[in-house]
Amino acid sequence: MGPLKIGIAGLGHVGCGLIELVERQDKLRLPGVVEITGVSARSQSRNRPVDTDKYRWFDDAATLAEDPDVDVFVELIGGSDGPAKFAVESALKAGKHVITANKALMAKHGMALAALAEEKGVDLLFEAAVAGGIPVVRVLRDSLAGVEIKRVAGILNGTCNYLTTSMLETGRSYDEVLEEAQKLGYAEADPTLDVSGMDAAHKAAILSAIAFSADLDFSKVKVSGVDGIDLLDLKLADRLGLRIKLIAEGLLTEDGVVCRVEPMALSANHPLARVNGSLNTVRIEGDPVGAITLTGPGAGAGPTASAVMGDVAKLFRPAIRPAFGRAEHHVARPFVAAMGDE
Ligand code: HSE
Repeated sequence: MGPLKIGIAGLGHVGCGLIELVERQDKLRLPGVVEITGVSARSQSRNRPVDTDKYRWFDDAATLAEDPDVDVFVELIGGSDGPAKFAVESALKAGKHVITANKALMAKHGMALAALAEEKGVDLLFEAAVAGGIPVVRVLRDSLAGVEIKRVAGILNGTCNYLTTSMLETGRSYDEVLEEAQKLGYAEADPTLDVSGMDAAHKAAILSAIAFSADLDFSKVKVSGVDGIDLLDLKLADRLGLRIKLIAEGLLTEDGVVCRVEPMALSANHPLARVNGSLNTVRIEGDPVGAITLTGPGAGAGPTASAVMGDVAKLFRPAIRPAFGRAEHHVARPFVAAMGDE
């Protein structure tokens, strides 16, 4: 098989993180070679941590999506409507696989886009849309297909978790810590989406749709955020032995699927209360497996780009993949003794 040719639309933190990963793919374990055949963003001249000038430039994402030299269109633009939606639809209609990190798009139009992908016989993959580097979409959709899921709950927004953790730890104000979360690449371009709980709601809706085979209706999700919380609230809760966390939940009830996001005061010993910084965590409860918890980096360029790359790897579909070891083009590394072993 020749290289898998990808076109990347959106060159923010995650887009640049993806380019950086593609450029050091010899260190990864992809089943084949990935080639970037085009890139697109709002501005070509912006200062970026990677050199994008060496790739074919497209002013328009939809033109990139339809380009004959693109096998896989990677959408990292963001936003539930507008250019992102138009470009994804264009790619699917042109028979291209699509990978997106866009939770707003998937939460609002996921059902329709999935139907279009199915009609065209292509894949629509969105691991990076939920919980950054935690492979929860794949686990829910594939690994737990034999489990009747009852509840999916956790911390799904790194910015809010960073805010509530770091304000308490350092005594800094909401505004100071939010500015830092933006600089660290955790927050959305519009951080209102994070602090209002909307970003976590998008992710909870996507997980609920997968977990319960539910007909996703984002307008039914109940959302409140951490935007009304200040340092005093966190300190008072701390005095009472409580931690305030933004909790997202999808629950199967007799009437259907309930999905909500709200700040909760948890006992400081509660497992979710101990998930700090920009980490995310998802607890999946189901029959007959019981409970499974996945915790890891939920935001930031590297972790999110790694989730996109995992989706790229999935598209190689090799007939036989070695369970251990590496494909031919990888450098084999020897096992070495652990430090301290004689
Ligand atoms: N703004 C998001 C967060 C990024 O803070 O979790 C990852 O989706």
